[in-house]
Amino acid sequence: MAPLARKQGLADLDELIKAIRTRKEEKLLNFVTEAMTTNESLFFRDMAPFDQLRKTILPRILAARSGTRRIRIWSAACSTGQELYSIAMYLKEEAASLAGWRIDILATDLATEALEKAKAGLYSQFEVQRGLPIQQLMKNFTKVGDMWQASPALRAMVQFQTNNLLTDLGPLNRAGFVGGSIS
Ligand SMILES: C[S@@+](CC[C@H](N)C(=O)[O-])C[C@H]1O[C@@H](n2cnc3c(N)ncnc32)[C@H](O)[C@@H]1O
Repeated sequence: MAPLARKQGLADLDELIKAIRTRKEEKLLNFVTEAMTTNESLFFRDMAPFDQLRKTILPRILAARSGTRRIRIWSAACSTGQELYSIAMYLKEEAASLAGWRIDILATDLATEALEKAKAGLYSQFEVQRGLPIQQLMKNFTKVGDMWQASPALRAMVQFQTNNLLTDLGPLNRAGFVGGSIS
């Protein structure tokens, strides 16, 4: 925490605590909160949820929403984006059964820096090696310098918003959230 205090122009941890207590500035509180959370994420993290999505969740949604042909997905603490791009890649693979469906993927997190990275869809070689099958990498990412960037088609499937789950559980229901379709 001492380097964080210095980043805010404060001498040490005691000064940082004092500033939090007395100034109660939102910017400072956000800075400390973000420093205390972990942004660990990887592609297709824990295969079990993705198996469930394929075997159980998607078939049930397709049956239940055949009237509206609309699917809304919320990556509610998306960190740097690997989770939502994994879902988007998975849905692209299911394009045949999703033709004509509208897909809304909303990605939110309280950490603004992580969210910016998610939005850019830019990952290092090390990051893409963590869970992303090579075929998916070649199909959905392009090399930009020494980084890999998610394709415009993949990025267009997602909307991003800052959100704190402790204070607001409603972003998915807000008007104006318009998604795209699988192409
Ligand atoms: C370990 S990452 C998980 C990333 C991704 N969901 C995954 O499973 O790969 C946890 C994320 O939760 C976010 N987070 C923690 N508390 C939060 C809150 N109250 N509201 C929104 N996001 C929060 C952190 O900023 C961090 O990016």
